[in-house]
Formats: sequence, structure tokens, C-alpha cells
Amino acid sequence: MLTEFRDRVAVVTGAASGIGRALCDRFAREGMKLVMADVERDRLAQAASELTDQGVDVLAVRTDVSRADDLSHLRDETLERYGAVHVLCNNAGVFAGGLSWDAISTDWEWVLGVNLYGILHGVRAFVPVMLEQNQPGHIVNTCSMAGLINMPLSGAYSVSKHAALSLTETLYHELRIKQSPVGVSALCPELIRTRIGHSERNRPAHLKRPEGSATPEQTLVEQAIQSSTAGGLDPSAMAERVFQGIREDRFYLLADEGTSWDRACLARLEDIRLRRNPTLGVVTSGN
Ligand SMILES: NC(=O)c1ccc[n+]([C@@H]2O[C@H](COP(=O)([O-])OP(=O)(O)OC[C@H]3O[C@@H](n4cnc5c(N)ncnc54)[C@H](O)[C@@H]3O)[C@@H](O)[C@H]2O)c1
Repeated sequence: MLTEFRDRVAVVTGAASGIGRALCDRFAREGMKLVMADVERDRLAQAASELTDQGVDVLAVRTDVSRADDLSHLRDETLERYGAVHVLCNNAGVFAGGLSWDAISTDWEWVLGVNLYGILHGVRAFVPVMLEQNQPGHIVNTCSMAGLINMPLSGAYSVSKHAALSLTETLYHELRIKQSPVGVSALCPELIRTRIGHSERNRPAHLKRPEGSATPEQTLVEQAIQSSTAGGLDPSAMAERVFQGIREDRFYLLADEGTSWDRACLARLEDIRLRRNPTLGVVTSGN
């Protein structure tokens, strides 16, 4: 279990914006050294220089998490600069919406490539190093409350987040079997005020939808994500949730009890327990 943070090394993907950026601020407050990884080169450089100006020891590495080679490169750069890694946050993620039968295969390829394979590549690159170090450490995979419930018009995103949570639970069990001092947490944010509703900015050209092909449902849900996240929690709340989760070695970092997200989650668990048909949870950015 990780209890000492000063001068320890944290690697964060999706570090240029939103939750990843807030994680970097939070770890910096603890005196950690930061490896910031993101696909957006300019925003990454900007975020890294903001922290460097505050006296934080930062390494910025342009990384596309959907590419295994980029994660190997990120690991090599981290070890060359700092010689170790103590906290790994596989956080980068994107959103695309639409009816399951309308969503084109490139939507699925993009969303699963970043949200699921991005985590898998991070795990494959860094876990052997963390096992070899045999020092207290922690891995935080950013999943979502959408990885615990299912909502219409978000099939690719929900599937990616359910799969990410499954991978994260599996990793937890495997590291316990190995008696590793590395803890694991699944961060499951609700609606957070970030740029996730503008994910299209990072979609590679070869995975773009053909011009003008968006269905009304795709447009509707992507606009809804923009407006609902605009009223969401500040990303610093997620950074605090993560930091406390690491310190207390808690796996599930979820929306608070009593929120609409919590109720939707409990309804799904009850649906399964009672073998009844799925309840549609109504979730809001308010609670
Ligand atoms: N904002 C929310 O309401 C919310 C809710 C649940 C889960 N999440 C999850 O939180 C995580 C962070 O997202 P956010 O809300 O801060 O959004 P954001 O768009 O503000 O930040 C995401 C970051 O990931 C980067 N990124 C995108 N594709 C990448 C790639 N291929 N390789 C490397 N970096 C890439 C982006 O450039 C960006 O800096 C994501 O996994 C997202 O699914 C967000």
C-alpha cells in the first residue's frame, strides 16, 4: 500500500485536460514527480509548462494510448528519466454516441481503442516493471459510472467502460495472487466538467465518420454529453477521490451514495438479483 508520495513517480495518461490534468495538480501538491502523457501535443506542452513553472519535476511524452508501441515508449522514457514508477493512471478516454445499430465500426474501433486497449496497453507496459520493483505502488484505471449501468445511445462507450472495469477487477485479483504491494482502483466518475463532450477533436482521420453521416441520435447524445458535463462536478473532485482512494487502498471509487448514479447502479444490481428486466436509470449532473 502506497503511503509515501513525496518524490515518488506518477504516470498519467490523458494528462492535458480534465480529470487527467486535475490528477497531475493533486499529485504535484504531494511533491510527486510527474510523467504527463497525451495525444494532444500542444495542450500537453502547455499543461506541462504550467506545472514546471510551479517548480514541479515533469516529463511530458506525446502518447497515443491506442498504440501499444507508444505505451512501451512511455515506459522507457519514464524509466530513463526517473528509474521507477509508483502510480500509474490509465485515464485517457473518448466518447462517441448513437444507436447500437447505427454506430459505424470506426466509432467502435476508436472508442474501444482508446478506452479499453489504452488501459490494456498501459497495464502490459507498466505492470511487469512494477512487479519487478516490488515497491508499494498503485494503478488507477479511469472507468466510469457508465461501466456499472447501461444507457441507450452510448453503446460503444458503455461497452468500453464495462470492459475496462472488468479488466481492472481482474488485475486487482491477479496482483493479490502475486502478493504484490501494488494496489488497484477503478475510478468511476459521474458527470464531470471536462472536454469529453468534444472528444471528436482527437479522432484520427482514418477513423472519422464520413462528412454529414451523423444520425439524429448521434448528434442528440453528443450534444447532451456536452451540456450535461458542462454542469458537472469540477475535475478536482475526481483527483481528490483518487488520491484518498490510493491512500486508503480502496478499489471502487464511485459516485456518492444517495446520488442518482448510485440509485441507478443499485437498481441494476437488484434487477440481476431478482432476475427482472433492466430498469432504465435516470441520472443527472445535479446529483
Ligand atoms: N467527464 C466526464 O463526465 C466523465 C465521466 C466518466 C468517465 N470519464 C472518463 O474520464 C477520463 C478523462 O476524460 P475527461 O472527462 O477528463 O475528458 P477530456 O477530454 O477533458 O480529457 C481526456 C484527455 O484524453 C486525451 N486523449 C484522447 N484520446 C487519446 C489517445 N488516443 N491517447 C492519449 N490521450 C488521449 C485528450 O487529449 C484529453 O487530454 C476518460 O477516460 C473518460 O471516459 C469522464
